[in-house]
Amino acid sequence: MPMLASDMSSVEAILDLNKIPNHVAIIMDGNGRWAKANRVSRKKGHEAGSQAFLEVVKRMIEYNIKFISMFAWSTENWGRPKNEVASLMELSKEFISNNLELIHENNIKVNHLGNLHNLPADLQEKINESISLTKNNTGATINIAFDYGGKQDIVSAVKKIIAEGILEENINEEVISNNLATANIPDPDLIIRPGGEKRISNFLIWQAAYAEYYFTNTLWPDFNAKEIDRALEEFNNRDRRFGLTS
Ligand code: IPE
Ligand code: IPE
Ligand code: MG
Repeated sequence: MPMLASDMSSVEAILDLNKIPNHVAIIMDGNGRWAKANRVSRKKGHEAGSQAFLEVVKRMIEYNIKFISMFAWSTENWGRPKNEVASLMELSKEFISNNLELIHENNIKVNHLGNLHNLPADLQEKINESISLTKNNTGATINIAFDYGGKQDIVSAVKKIIAEGILEENINEEVISNNLATANIPDPDLIIRPGGEKRISNFLIWQAAYAEYYFTNTLWPDFNAKEIDRALEEFNNRDRRFGLTS
């Protein structure tokens, strides 16, 4: 089983490795258009997308990025045709089965964002297995957003806060953050969206308040290590002011 080795010699020249984001979130979009362009089924497009996932995560691990969030399925994606939903669920289960060992061997911790209960039982099992197998790993954390919606995340946080009986005067940003799916995970510094659309599509909407965005027309199945290098290079050159004077 190959390890995710570290060879950064090719990028050290262009990147300031001290300015690597702590948390990168990716909206994996464009599988369907990739399938159409390559005259294959949408299922094949999603399969190609899952291969991109491995290459891209590997590159981010090489950069020592500590938190990686991958948007795989939104709360709105359930509205897609039944056969596409079913094939994506099946593919995701197989993908975890085939790659969990590799992820574990690389000291990666798997975390899930969103609702587990709407997923097919066998996929829920696989996700739970990934979380429990990797829970003591100390390397990067990968958050898999599967049946995740930012608005729903906020609704669920409000419900938890009410259930905890927290008083109005004690409600602040920290309390809200701590009740979101991303409690204990720092906000994303960089959000990457391949596929040409320039929108967030209900991903980490609270957490993205001061994220930098990187958009590219490259479709997700064609997204690769080089594209990560480009996104990080652009991030390197961003001036994050957080509302302060320049
Ligand atoms: C992203 O690719 C994968 C999921 C949302 C599951 P799409 O399936 O949205 O691909 P396009 O946007 O139709 O090309
Ligand atoms: C965003 O892609 C969701 C995921 C990549 C999981 P969509 O294809 O669902 O987004 P829209 O519909 O173009 O906004
Ligand atoms: Mg899409």
